[in-house]
Amino acid sequence: MAQTLQRGPVSGTAVKRAGKKRKPFLLDFYSTAVGKKYVMAITGIMLIGFVVAHMVGNLKMYLGIVEKDGVRDYDLDIYGEYLRQLLVPIVPEYGTLWLMRIGLLAALVFHVHAAYTLTVLNRKARPVKYQSARDYQVASFASRTMRWTGSLVLLFILWHLADLTLGWVNPDFEYGEVYRNVDASLSRVPVAILYIVANIALGIHLFHGVWSLFQSMGWNNPKFNQWRRSLATAIAAIVVIGNVSFPVMVLAGVVEFDPDAGTVIHGEVEEVDE
Ligand code: HEM
Repeated sequence: MAQTLQRGPVSGTAVKRAGKKRKPFLLDFYSTAVGKKYVMAITGIMLIGFVVAHMVGNLKMYLGIVEKDGVRDYDLDIYGEYLRQLLVPIVPEYGTLWLMRIGLLAALVFHVHAAYTLTVLNRKARPVKYQSARDYQVASFASRTMRWTGSLVLLFILWHLADLTLGWVNPDFEYGEVYRNVDASLSRVPVAILYIVANIALGIHLFHGVWSLFQSMGWNNPKFNQWRRSLATAIAAIVVIGNVSFPVMVLAGVVEFDPDAGTVIHGEVEEVDE
């Protein structure tokens, strides 16, 4: 006798919606654990791209004062101004910067939302805690601490924006004078320690994030495991070494704002030291 085969949920975590209207594909996919992992991986790649580019951009503070188009200024300040003027006059001033900010914020919101809802989904799938000790050889230190390192980095970002973008917690803040603001912020020892601790947490988060994004995307052939580990180590190390060097070099006096040097705000020379 012919039997009608009924398709069950795609995965054990897919939500059953018997009798309910189907959601659009992307929303439907996002409600599964696999969908959330994809979102975490894609937004993770975007965020890693920003973090690496931001660190490389900040290395400009080591170039100190440079002369460009007849104007002397801190290279870091010229770079900040360049970002504000990116693609002008095709787009208005700040236009590209705001587009990048919106993209970055959206990536961060999705990354955190997917992480949170994935945890909720996993708890629902296993309401009873593991009865025996977890196999901590398989679950490394970095993987077990993802939630903590992630939360610490999130809190750090809030402080960092209040410190170096808005100047709320940086008493010597001057809009547009990036080098001066970095020096003013990181010469405070407790703040320098906060930057160092947050960036080590970021490094641990990045190490496990880069490693597991290959798993999430399905690129997990055991042949590439050594390569995956090396890439995760390299990205985490580059970001931590670069970012930790900034507070260390400010405290060591290598990066030091000189109030007598010429600075440019919106293209006008304020004072130039001959
Ligand atoms: C010691 C390490 C770091 C230093 C010295 C540093 C420095 C700065 C500076 C000077 C600005 C303001 C730039 C401007 O106004 O032109 C800034 C903005 C920003 N930083 Fe960092 N940063 C560091 C680490 C990080 C990390 C680890 C993250 C993220 C995890 C991050 C995320 C941001 C974001 C989101 C902005 C705002 C960008 C914008 O809206 O234009 N920074 N940073």
